[in-house]
Amino acid sequence: MSDTGENTAPKTRAAFIGLGVMGHPMAGHLQRGGFDVCVYNRTAAKAEKWAGEYGGRVAATPAEAAAGCDFVCACVGADDDVRAVTTAAAGAFHGMTRGATFIDHTTASAAVARELEQAAKEKRLHFLDAPVSGGQAGAENGVLTIMVGGEEAVFERARTVLAAYGRVVTRMGEAGAGQLTKMVNQICIAGLLQALSEGLHFAGRAGLDAKQVVEVISGGAAQSWQMENRGRTMVDDEFDFGFAVDWMRKDLRLCMEEARRNGAELPVTALVDQFYAMLQHAGGGRRDTSSLIRLLGRGGG
Ligand SMILES: NC(=O)c1ccc[n+]([C@@H]2O[C@H](COP(=O)([O-])OP(=O)(O)OC[C@H]3O[C@@H](n4cnc5c(N)ncnc54)[C@H](OP(=O)(O)O)[C@@H]3O)[C@@H](O)[C@H]2O)c1
Repeated sequence: MSDTGENTAPKTRAAFIGLGVMGHPMAGHLQRGGFDVCVYNRTAAKAEKWAGEYGGRVAATPAEAAAGCDFVCACVGADDDVRAVTTAAAGAFHGMTRGATFIDHTTASAAVARELEQAAKEKRLHFLDAPVSGGQAGAENGVLTIMVGGEEAVFERARTVLAAYGRVVTRMGEAGAGQLTKMVNQICIAGLLQALSEGLHFAGRAGLDAKQVVEVISGGAAQSWQMENRGRTMVDDEFDFGFAVDWMRKDLRLCMEEARRNGAELPVTALVDQFYAMLQHAGGGRRDTSSLIRLLGRGGG
């Protein structure tokens, strides 16, 4: 502390890689939460925009962003994208200092988490898989649920970072356990959204006011996050926001690949995945996952 009571301790340095729908606000919470943040984004204009908004630094490569940081976070697309920003040429692992921790918020496979934890160990680095739930609003409001896999001591040291944008932050086990937990999350959402679609479709055909139905049954046993946050927009046929069908298909593929390995049976998940494939083929890949109802006609109709 200085004479004026101001905290003059050097800020912890952190990097954030991938400033998409989720990464942009998450990196912003880190910077505003007192970290000295350096960002990297493949499309450089997004990184400049972020720095203009939050005042942090911009790097030209993931390795450059990671240099001298205690923590390097990422939220990119899928398995190969995580590899591209870690172990590939100019990836973060080549710039990180010994003892630093890479925190991956991408929804990816448990296998890539185990692979990268091993690659990190070989370089005397640490790795946590830390996929998130809560969507764009959860990222913007800093209230994400974060499911973490990796060593306990590494997780405990990373808590200050995760608390910058997470409300529920839990270690689920060794490397890959965060991704496996996120798969459970997606399996639960897939079946639930199809049921919600069918319920609203039925309400419309039965001549009920579907929005009123949502309001009433939201207070009972059928209540869900999807019902509360998507029920009305589904009735209004609005889907140009939220969590894209393309991302959901990527996630359900991860779930089904994992199920083939562990013997779990996912009949409804597999069926809903096919419904999402139909929406994708009809050009709806970027629409919110609640657009499932479109296959049944308008919910409120
Ligand atoms: N959106 C949600 O509601 C939500 C919720 C929970 C989890 N997730 C998961 O979070 C991750 C990101 O989602 P998002 O919605 O933020 O996606 P997004 O808006 O498409 O952003 C993806 C980001 O990753 C970067 N990226 C992708 N591939 C890359 C590569 N090979 N090398 C370098 N950078 C790369 C993109 O860079 P460019 O700008 O150059 O394209 C962009 O910054 C996904 O795994 C998704 O499943 C999303």
